[in-house]
Amino acid sequence: MGRIYAPHTINFIANRFSLLIFNMSSILFALPENQLFAKSLVDQLKIPLGDVIFRHFPDGDSYVRIKSEIKDKEVFLLASLNQPDPKVIPLLFFSKTAKTLGAKKIHLIAPYLAYMRQDKAFNPGEAINSRIFATLLSQYFDTLITIDPHLHRYKTLDEIYTIPTYVLHADILIAEWIQQNIKKPVLIGPDVESKQWVLRAANHIKAPYLIFKKTRIGDRDVQISVPHIEDYQHNTAVLIDDIISSAATMIEAVKHLKQLGVRKIVCIGIHAIFAGNAYQELKATGVERIITCNTILHESSTIDVSGMVADAIRADMLL
Ligand code: R5P
Repeated sequence: MGRIYAPHTINFIANRFSLLIFNMSSILFALPENQLFAKSLVDQLKIPLGDVIFRHFPDGDSYVRIKSEIKDKEVFLLASLNQPDPKVIPLLFFSKTAKTLGAKKIHLIAPYLAYMRQDKAFNPGEAINSRIFATLLSQYFDTLITIDPHLHRYKTLDEIYTIPTYVLHADILIAEWIQQNIKKPVLIGPDVESKQWVLRAANHIKAPYLIFKKTRIGDRDVQISVPHIEDYQHNTAVLIDDIISSAATMIEAVKHLKQLGVRKIVCIGIHAIFAGNAYQELKATGVERIITCNTILHESSTIDVSGMVADAIRADMLL
């Protein structure tokens, strides 16, 4: 008679077996600029980093060559989509080539997902970028994993993506960073959309919070109205937003806080877009620190979100 195993032992063996299959059947590729994040992911997932060439011909056309064996494999492509236009064609060429070479499934990991902010036609005749881009990616990839996409008018990505999407949130990691590094913080959302992150982070560390009101006048022009802040004059104001792009939102919020006498200000963004001189301009306001997550490689990247991505992939693959 064979040995009888307790249920938890069977689960443990099944998990180890799934893990082994996952390790043997998966491979991760990365677009240039994503190498550090990619290294961290493959180390945690214990899967190989794929060999791929992304380059351009002298005339600017894209060239993609997948050198690793990928037949019947779960293929992950890591591509953070800041400054998206030059990245999109290589992305699509990679996906079609991987399919042709027999990949089982192709999963796009886009720590920053582009084109989400244009979520309606604000003026007649405008393209709704988020919807068009979602339709395009849904045709080329089997799943999408991303971190805090800019969900404003859409409640979930499922409203525009037809493939399964996995949305991860950086708020708890941000809250933990604040707890470890800031004495007496007051968390501040510079606009109503940022309330979702600010509220969850504040609740997690039981810190007070305030939400400002923002009106956007143009790409680099915003107006902000500030509620009463007198009770928090001696706290460190920690501004939290999902995207820092032109930094107009952060700069305007910092100006108001300074006028109201707040001396210690820290800015935290999830996605460090920092278009043009935005980073230097924000620094020039005299804020104590500017911190971002490493969804986009930048000198301000302090909060590592790669562990959260690895955990999500592992959890899903082992189901
Ligand atoms: C907008 O709703 C977002 O949450 C950010 O506030 C915005 O994208 C920041 O952009 P900028 O840095 O250009 O002000």
